[in-house]
Amino acid sequence: MRSVYIHIPFCSDICNYCDFCKVYYDSDVVSRYLDALEFEIAKRYNGEVVSTLYIGGGTPSVLSISELERLFQIISRFNLDSFLEFTFECNVDSLSYDKMLFLFNHGVNRISLGVQTFNDKFLKFLNRGHCSADVVRVVDDLKRVGFRNISVDLMYAFPGESVSDVSSDLDFLLRLDIPHVSTYSLMIEPHTKFFVDGALSIDEDLDYEMYRLICDRLRDNGYKHYEVSNFSREGFCSRHNLTYWNNFNYYGFGCGASGYIGNVRYDNTRSLNKYLAHDFLWHEDVLSKSDIILNEFILGFRKLDGINISSFSQKYGDIFKYDVINRLILEGKLINDGCNIYINPSYVYISNTILVDFIGEVYE
Ligand SMILES: C[S@@+](CC[C@H](N)C(=O)[O-])C[C@H]1O[C@@H](n2cnc3c(N)ncnc32)[C@H](O)[C@@H]1O
Ligand code: SF4
Repeated sequence: MRSVYIHIPFCSDICNYCDFCKVYYDSDVVSRYLDALEFEIAKRYNGEVVSTLYIGGGTPSVLSISELERLFQIISRFNLDSFLEFTFECNVDSLSYDKMLFLFNHGVNRISLGVQTFNDKFLKFLNRGHCSADVVRVVDDLKRVGFRNISVDLMYAFPGESVSDVSSDLDFLLRLDIPHVSTYSLMIEPHTKFFVDGALSIDEDLDYEMYRLICDRLRDNGYKHYEVSNFSREGFCSRHNLTYWNNFNYYGFGCGASGYIGNVRYDNTRSLNKYLAHDFLWHEDVLSKSDIILNEFILGFRKLDGINISSFSQKYGDIFKYDVINRLILEGKLINDGCNIYINPSYVYISNTILVDFIGEVYE
């Protein structure tokens, strides 16, 4: 079984905060890109059964129906599991009713929708091409078409945002009755308009207050907080993203995509020209056993359920041989419930600062 990520780097507008691998949409380039993508998949894919497929971007929904037809013809090469989770990432402004119908009729069963905020003033500030009324219409249409598994990306911690603004976003979100939410605190990344303009991150205490509000409100409204930044109703957690946090193998295809096959982690080039010339790979790392164990800890503790003691021990030996595990349990930062070891919920917000302690410990 394998998971597959496919990157579609085209966007109709460029958001002021975004450092993802993306370029402006151009139909001639899309056509050449899809040819290169088909070539890469033919070269790398070994015919395994695909259990989760995630088409992300960029903005996959910016493709026209005829470009989507070509993309789905390429996807038909995969040996798809009958219980496939098939996610398609969409922006509100490019998701027409026709495209929704097309996706639904071609096996997509999960939509990840980039909403970011329901506040029209902040949507403009981010340079998003939609307003909150568009989100309501699109979510309504998605449900009418038949999509049940919908996820929304919600950002917070914009310069000038208050806790009460976040609270209003949560009120709006809860009214939409969406089964999965991914939340992101705004990062001011180099190479973005915000960075160039000198935008500053908000105060850390305020960021924490917003995070706590999000966790509490979503939990009180029936969402399970299952990963540091992800929340889902029963049965709607992202199986694809769990592949990453469970440290399992996956293919990454497309410009800027990353993959993990066998003991090799690889990143494709972010240069569109190189990708179109079939010069796909940027670099690869062959992981040692210690590297793999470090990833198991760092990724596994992102899940609120943490790491299963017996499955870890079957793969890598006794988990308690790592002093850092025993020390963090004694300090109350990790909890051992006899089955799983997981981050104490009070420390989830600062989990990164705890996880760095593992770096010095796993290398013998
Ligand atoms: C792959 S990206 C973009 C998906 C899609 N094109 C969109 O814009 O809706 C996935 C999510 O990462 C988040 N994101 C991107 N850049 C970010 C940043 N600088 N800080 C925080 N979150 C960010 C946004 O919520 C975005 O929806
Ligand atoms: S956030 Fe999404 S739509 Fe905006 S530039 Fe990045 S990939 Fe494109």
